[in-house]
Amino acid sequence: MDEFEQLKNEIPSCTLCDLCKTRTHVVFGEGNRHAPIMCIGEGPGYYEDMQGRPFVGKSGILLDKIFAACGFTRQEHIFIGNIVKCRPPGNRDPQPEERAACLPYLLKQIEWIDPKIIILLGATALKGLVDPNARITQVRGTWLELQGRLVMPTYHPSALLRNPALKREAWEDFKHVIDKYRELIDPKHFCAYH
Ligand code: URA
Repeated sequence: MDEFEQLKNEIPSCTLCDLCKTRTHVVFGEGNRHAPIMCIGEGPGYYEDMQGRPFVGKSGILLDKIFAACGFTRQEHIFIGNIVKCRPPGNRDPQPEERAACLPYLLKQIEWIDPKIIILLGATALKGLVDPNARITQVRGTWLELQGRLVMPTYHPSALLRNPALKREAWEDFKHVIDKYRELIDPKHFCAYH
């Protein structure tokens, strides 16, 4: 068993922060363990906590539609994770100490998956991984860098559900990812819309 599988086995018993007291399942993340693209959200919501899988609620349905429009699948192209692996009660924002406790797990996952491209979904992912002072409205759609990897910040799908007018900008962001994927990984990548 490699380190990745070992962490996956150990993490359900994590008690590093108080979220362990209210969670039903730890959401380790899912997708291709060697994915060229990692997608990082905020934290599990109700359905994710129930099922132990990331992005399975309304936001996840929209995210899967966006992936499909890009010609990406969770199985082949993507690994999806979150800033925190346990649901904050009532879907509140994860607290600084919860983010700090969970961050080393995510950093290990990034190291082991070794994606070329990281998509950050929303402000919590942007602030938690790149810069606590960055603003998603200012930096979305621009390439940033994290430990030598390319990072594309964009809106969280829940923001797109609340404000569908943002979908146009989000699609521009994902088109940058498709272009970069073709440039770095597969020049023949097929996408019906771009
Ligand atoms: N929102 C997130 O940020 N992550 C999930 O896994 C689900 C909803």
